[in-house]
Amino acid sequence: MEPYRIKVVEPLALTTRPQREAALKRVAYNPFDLRADEVTIDLLSDSGTGAISADQLAAGMRGDESYAGSRSFYRWHEVVTELTGYPHVLPAHQGRAAERILFSALLKPGDTVVSNTHFDTTRANVELTGCRALDLPCAEARDLDSDYPFKGNIDLAALGQALENAGESPVAAVLMTVTNNGGGGQPVSMENLRGAAELARRHGVPLILDAARFAENAWLVTRREPGYQDRTPRQVAEEAFRLADGCVVSAKKDGIVHIGGFIGLKDPELAERCNGLLIATEGFSTYGGLSGRDLEMMTQGLLEVTEPSYLAEREEAAAYLADRIRSVGVDIVEPSGLHALYVNAGRLLPHIPPHQYPGTALMCELYLRGGIRSAELGSLYLGEEDEHGNPVRSAPYELVRLALPRRVYTRSHYDHVARTLGDIAKDPGSVHGYRIVGQSPILRHFSIRLEPV
Ligand code: F0G
Repeated sequence: MEPYRIKVVEPLALTTRPQREAALKRVAYNPFDLRADEVTIDLLSDSGTGAISADQLAAGMRGDESYAGSRSFYRWHEVVTELTGYPHVLPAHQGRAAERILFSALLKPGDTVVSNTHFDTTRANVELTGCRALDLPCAEARDLDSDYPFKGNIDLAALGQALENAGESPVAAVLMTVTNNGGGGQPVSMENLRGAAELARRHGVPLILDAARFAENAWLVTRREPGYQDRTPRQVAEEAFRLADGCVVSAKKDGIVHIGGFIGLKDPELAERCNGLLIATEGFSTYGGLSGRDLEMMTQGLLEVTEPSYLAEREEAAAYLADRIRSVGVDIVEPSGLHALYVNAGRLLPHIPPHQYPGTALMCELYLRGGIRSAELGSLYLGEEDEHGNPVRSAPYELVRLALPRRVYTRSHYDHVARTLGDIAKDPGSVHGYRIVGQSPILRHFSIRLEPV
């Protein structure tokens, strides 16, 4: 059961089918553009959407809003250095700000960053510095249905080769995303992390953790990796941070805050360069774009998030929804993790070709039928067409991510999600595809405009 009870509640937006039809048409079938009060169950993201605890709220009230040297910063600094072991930690307003600063300080145009899988903004930040973002997920990740416990791993042999044969574009960093959000939310094993760390060290390349979901990864390590059953998630997280040379963190996930992030580094010179960029673009080193209140709430969230009872329930709730979805005959990426379930839309809607976007079709249908908002991870996100709209590249899978905000929805909300998917699965042939009528050149899935085919 949930290891908390509910003190403050917020009404759900209940809408009618005609209202949802009108809303979806108005936003050109891009649910990103819906007003949140047109959405009943919002599974678009687990980022910044968690419910804060009474202790976080109380900590926020203690926020010291001094421009420099605030008490809240020193408390935050102590907790983050204890957790990560990094001597240099810098606050930032969210993950992508931390990425932009670190990559600007670390990379030169023409470099390569190798990852198990870059998250989309992380890839964009690598590319914006004129570098190449190379994903090398492990081979086991290709089988969406298998129960392999660590599909978030990097392919160590391919990483070794990339480091050896860098050629024109030297590898300037190895970035391990834990858990692997772009790769079905799957965890990375400590064995794989250690392997990546050894390879990176041998080639004198820093290993950076994209540690947005460090606690959820650590929990799954205690559950799935031999030799870790008796460790606490906090101990595993501490070990993971110490295997790497630094981290970029979006605290909007496992910091359980609405805004916040940080950079952690071992290298003092790199940290100094980041600090200069931080001051120029985010804020002074002791607040990095955050208020004292935000820093306090992050500090408390980072302490709460590794509580075994909290993580156990989060895993159970995800498993509950996963079971319900499987029982209505819909497939998800297996095994289910913690922060999201990834529905196999391509398999549910085989009559919709990749370039009519089966993931988008399912996403729109979930909204029309159930007021549920989700995110496409398929050919709209990863595909490409030529100037005439002819397919050039499609995604390997057509998925829809149901992200699970922390401490927000209950099992009866999840019942509604599974029921809605069940209704769609009874008559998948009635769902149609979409065509693109407008898009932007970078991160197009945020602003795409579509019409039904
Ligand atoms: N890295 C990972 C693995 C992420 O999942 C995200 C954000 C970021 C970095 C960027 O952090 O949003 O604080 O700037 N993921 C959100 C999501 C948006 O919905 O998965 P941010």
